[in-house]
Amino acid sequence: MGNIIIVGTQWGDEGKGKIVDCLTEKSNVVARYQGGHNAGHTVVIGDEKFILHLIPSGILHKGKMCIIGNGVVVEPKALIDEIAELEKRGVKVTRDNLRVSKNSHLIMPYHILLDGWKELKKGSKKIGTTGRGIGPCYTTKAERSGIRMLDLFWPEQFKEKLKANISDINCMLEQIPGVEKLDAELIYNDYIAYGKKLEKFVDDTDITINEAIKSGSNCLFEGAQGTLLDVDHGTYPFVTSSSATAGGAMTGLGVGPKCVDEVYGVAKAYTTRVGEGPFPSELSDDTGQLLREKGAEYGATTGRARRCGWLDFVVLRHAVRVNGLTGLVITKLDILDDMEKIKVCVGYKYGNETLRDFPKELPKLEGCTPVYEEVDGWKGQATTGVRSYDKLPQKARDYIALIEKTLDVPVVIISTGQDRDDIIYR
Ligand code: GDP
Ligand code: IMO
Ligand code: MG
Repeated sequence: MGNIIIVGTQWGDEGKGKIVDCLTEKSNVVARYQGGHNAGHTVVIGDEKFILHLIPSGILHKGKMCIIGNGVVVEPKALIDEIAELEKRGVKVTRDNLRVSKNSHLIMPYHILLDGWKELKKGSKKIGTTGRGIGPCYTTKAERSGIRMLDLFWPEQFKEKLKANISDINCMLEQIPGVEKLDAELIYNDYIAYGKKLEKFVDDTDITINEAIKSGSNCLFEGAQGTLLDVDHGTYPFVTSSSATAGGAMTGLGVGPKCVDEVYGVAKAYTTRVGEGPFPSELSDDTGQLLREKGAEYGATTGRARRCGWLDFVVLRHAVRVNGLTGLVITKLDILDDMEKIKVCVGYKYGNETLRDFPKELPKLEGCTPVYEEVDGWKGQATTGVRSYDKLPQKARDYIALIEKTLDVPVVIISTGQDRDDIIYR
């Protein structure tokens, strides 16, 4: 199977978790390379539903090595809780199947406070973050005052760094009404205790993954969020703070680009977005509501209602380009089963111009209206649970063919339901 990067092509929640779980069967290593517990990756196996936030979606398969790479920001308590929850549900998590990078940056309590405070200050211009401290943690990483996993095992050094950070933060907190100053000693003790619980998983993950690649193992690089949430290639500033595109896998794990055999982009058969920011093909009508209800479009991390709209080829063309996609994975085809007609956004109208490529200027993007083409749906002939391409209704196959033709990328996998087994490999 080779080494495959799995990336979101839209605004996250495309069904990456399900696809990673499915492809894990033929893989040896599954590695997360960016983001943190802002992610919510759902895997459904029969009656059981698992939502993974930090741990790679391969963990539910026995004997697979899951890696949390250096590019991930780790809230240690969230990781400890996630491990405990899996163990409670009968999934063994040991050093044999989970490693966490020494170099991963830690989300500290002040990152979470700052995330909330910055959003509050922005008022109606807020990003709509998950409130998990992601942005502030990546900020301190880039600013070089971050605390890494390895610091927990060098107590003196850790204490010194923490004290310096807390003293800076407390100066800032003084300006926030009703917020108490932070106590470095308390945070120190909590984090040393977290370190004790996590020590057995901590690893030079760059070495582990490169050795696995060298020995011929198949690796899956599991992206979180999606292309339009990428800090460089997304709808900035309405993005997350990490490199959610394929390039992030290289820096976020410490692997070279030559090891990558395929880059699969996961796309919903329509589009969703959670949080604020532009979304040209958004539907604020009954059809949008229908997609939300039938697609159960409520966030796996925050429970927020997701905004819904038609499939957008302008977005996908951008994703194909910046990720170098070699294959597309179309999920939630079944959610379109009741549609008489289906629209696809083929361009944006901006003044007298018709744009084919995603505009980078926010005001321009906000002034765009979608140009739609309408195709026949396959109402009355369900795709739900269909597991072979030949059994899909002709109109559904036409829809897949339209995606392939428009984007010039093969659709390699189609997902037709929540369950692990509701999948078509081509
Ligand atoms: P991720 O963040 O990309 O892993 O996606 P999420 O887990 O946040 O959201 C995707 C949702 O769609 C989850 O509830 C999945 O169980 C569900 N899902 C994935 N693929 C399909 C599919 O083909 N059909 C249906 N009906 N649900 C799906
Ligand atoms: P998965 O991996 C969808 C969104 C937030 C917000 C913006 C910034 O499950 O696809 P952040 O907390 O990262 O600073 O928020 O990014 N966002 C996601 N939207 N799926 C996700 O992850 C997301 N992670 C962050 O809603 O708009
Ligand atoms: Mg999600």
